[in-house]
Amino acid sequence: MENLRVLILAAGKSTRMKSRYAKVLHRAGGRTLIEHVLAAARSLSTNISVVVGHSADQVKSAASEVTFIDQHEQLGTGHAVLTARDHFSGYTGDVIVMPGDVPLIAVSTLEAFVRFHRAGGFRACVLTADLDDPGGYGRIIRQSNDEVLSIVEHRDATPEMREIREINSGIYIFNAAALFEALTKVRNENAQGEYYLTDVIGILVGKKQKVGVFKVKLAEEVLGINTRQELAAVDRVLRRNKCDSLMSDGVTILDPDTVYIDADVQVGADTVIYPSVQLYGHTVIGDEATIRSFSRISNSKIGAKAVILEGSLVSDCTIGEGVSIGPYANLHSGTTLGDSAQVGNFVEVKKSTFGAGTKSKHLAYLGDATLGNHVNIGAGVITCNYDGVNKHPTIVEDGAFVGTDSQLIAPVRVGKNAYVAAGSSITEDVPADSLAIARGRQVVKEGWSKNRKKKGD
Ligand code: UD1
Ligand code: CA
Repeated sequence: MENLRVLILAAGKSTRMKSRYAKVLHRAGGRTLIEHVLAAARSLSTNISVVVGHSADQVKSAASEVTFIDQHEQLGTGHAVLTARDHFSGYTGDVIVMPGDVPLIAVSTLEAFVRFHRAGGFRACVLTADLDDPGGYGRIIRQSNDEVLSIVEHRDATPEMREIREINSGIYIFNAAALFEALTKVRNENAQGEYYLTDVIGILVGKKQKVGVFKVKLAEEVLGINTRQELAAVDRVLRRNKCDSLMSDGVTILDPDTVYIDADVQVGADTVIYPSVQLYGHTVIGDEATIRSFSRISNSKIGAKAVILEGSLVSDCTIGEGVSIGPYANLHSGTTLGDSAQVGNFVEVKKSTFGAGTKSKHLAYLGDATLGNHVNIGAGVITCNYDGVNKHPTIVEDGAFVGTDSQLIAPVRVGKNAYVAAGSSITEDVPADSLAIARGRQVVKEGWSKNRKKKGD
């Protein structure tokens, strides 16, 4: 939008969160609170500045492509905006001021708010909502003609004022020049001894400037997070919204109340997600996949028609089409599975590559391994990849068969179409097309147990 800047206030301490981290760094729906607010701000303006103070360095590293303004002492929201004055010198356009702790605010609402402000020719507008439980929020005091008179903080409000259900969302649009002029008149004689940004509204009204009120329909959007309880409530809303939007796009989610899907996750149409599934980070799931209960997938790409069975963990992996994983498999650290590969129950795969159609179906550990196409890894096979100091690679070429309960002592290579006999400890490379047997020969002592019993008599 033209001639519009955004100023986000994020310097406050998370007193009520009882946290050692800045409030805006807490996460809901898979993103930090500041990331949610920034995502909304970015769709309105490319000129975004953020006032930081508590945990400033961490907040700075959580946000990119914005200007940071340091508020060294947190003397209130009015003081926070005043700290940014130099950044706005010579600018006479509009500025949206918003707190960093309102992650549910919708872009469409902010756009409608800007249109309202501009169509009405206002100097300032405040975004409000009617809440059933307005406790803690600033209240909107209206004049007899229904126009706004001022905003009074909960802690400064009289019992009558506390009956008012219309609250200040903390989101405003100001003409920048009017804002900074009024801010110089704000004093800190109030219950919290702070410079309140909210006082600017009363000051502008007192100066007969045109001030508007824009009330949102969906009060939920302006919920600010001040406590862990509110964080959990907003997280629930974000997750429900994410499930709703995926279902609208053709994903079946059997029990959305128990499913956790982060904001940036993508899921293809006709994929079925069973109860209690968790999909985190930048996970992308293709079409027609099946994700069974209690699986957790983080920052991974899952191909179309893949089936992830119960209780499987997949993190930082690339999984091909039609792959089957689990139940109870653990795949991590940059593992890649080719199309139609199969990783079965109680198999752990770390930093390894499976070619197309390669299988490891039971009770194995494969670490630092590169498996070709159509390799068969028997039950209980272990790559001994760590010598106590260094990690070593294992290579199993196309079509090879590694018998059950074998150890591949790395570094080692099993050649194309070679066989490793069950129970082998492979320490040397196995040439292509050969059979390697590396175990003690069986010795049979006939009649041994009968003789032993006799001795015991
Ligand atoms: C503020 C409003 C209140 C409104 C509510 C909506 C004031 C005085 N009150 O109250 O009317 O209903 O938001 O959520 O503005 N911050 C700074 N520097 C400071 C103080 C705060 O950057 O010195 C930042 C905080 O990090 C936060 C935002 O400003 O992101 C709001 O501050 P907060 O303390 O949460 O204000 P509320 O008490 O919620
Ligand atoms: Ca707040």
